[in-house]
Amino acid sequence: MKIATVSGSLRSQSSNAALLDAYRILAGDGADFDRVANLELLPHYNPDLDSETPPEEVTRMRDRVLLADLVVFSTPEYIHALPSVLKNCLEWLVSDPRFYQKPTVILHANPNSTFALSSLKEVLTTMSATIIEDASVVISIPSNKITAADILESPEWRVALEKSFVIASEIVLQARSRPD
Ligand SMILES: Cc1cc2nc3c(=O)[nH]c(=O)nc-3n(C[C@H](O)[C@H](O)[C@H](O)COP(=O)(O)O)c2cc1C
Repeated sequence: MKIATVSGSLRSQSSNAALLDAYRILAGDGADFDRVANLELLPHYNPDLDSETPPEEVTRMRDRVLLADLVVFSTPEYIHALPSVLKNCLEWLVSDPRFYQKPTVILHANPNSTFALSSLKEVLTTMSATIIEDASVVISIPSNKITAADILESPEWRVALEKSFVIASEIVLQARSRPD
């Protein structure tokens, strides 16, 4: 199973990236992970450029996200909204038919930042992605100075992420075994 992870934070010590990294570590050999980073390299979305031959960075990002069986998002909230880099990435993805019914999981690190969480859900729903709600987890990480190792030290967070991975894997594998 191929899993693409997308963090809405560009920060080198991002807690959202740490959460996605913890997810990858917990999955072990259970999946092939691809962290789709450097969202800042994507040009600003422009319908004029969204043609048969979009910018190279866009094609590369789309292939990485859309060839995955599952896409796992984790994002901070900036000014009660999604960070612009993540929204920009999603704008580039919406016109690609491969995003239709793409299984997605939302991890969320800060229970106080509800605008970003509800906004991401709304955007993904509008894009006709399939959000695996039972695998989407909110984890009360109190600080943005945290590493994947710190996250994995907490039995509560570990169990929540493990459970999320098991549920998401089952749903993806079931979907793959169904005839079209
Ligand atoms: C420009 C900016 C705006 C922010 N706005 C909000 C906000 O509206 N609500 C909130 O809960 N946190 C807000 N925060 C805090 C971040 O969401 C929080 O620090 C988050 O953990 C950062 O994620 P990261 O560690 O992955 O970079 C903001 C941070 C920055 C830098």
